[in-house]
Amino acid sequence: MNNTEMTPSSTPWFFACQVGDVPRNGGVCVKRGTEQIALFHFARTDSWYATENLCPHRRQMALSRGMTGSAGEMQEPKVACPFHKKSFSLLSGKCLSGEHYQIKVYPVKVEAGNVYIGKDPIRQDIDASGEYLECAS
Ligand code: FES
Repeated sequence: MNNTEMTPSSTPWFFACQVGDVPRNGGVCVKRGTEQIALFHFARTDSWYATENLCPHRRQMALSRGMTGSAGEMQEPKVACPFHKKSFSLLSGKCLSGEHYQIKVYPVKVEAGNVYIGKDPIRQDIDASGEYLECAS
């Protein structure tokens, strides 16, 4: 289950790394300019996910070092921040720990052993006014 099904075909991509650069069932931090993106690989399902690396709880650049897993009956992929264990859906970016935090999620695709991340976040984290939902702190 990847999030690329929700990605328009016109999505611009940037090269992130090679498949072998990402630990199985773990994450890495990919830098794009001043932006940090957490990239995760779930080896059992060979699924890839990307989110902003910033945890909105105490604004730590930490999510790429978080523990990955799944939540609920739907086995929703998630990451838990290594600082205070707040967890976030890797599909929606919603906080699964009961708070109103929201992180950006990005599409990921793999081609010929190379991993690409969409330059724009998936738009499900935009509110009715067209603005990104604020990351509470
Ligand atoms: S800084 Fe991530 S849970 Fe607190």
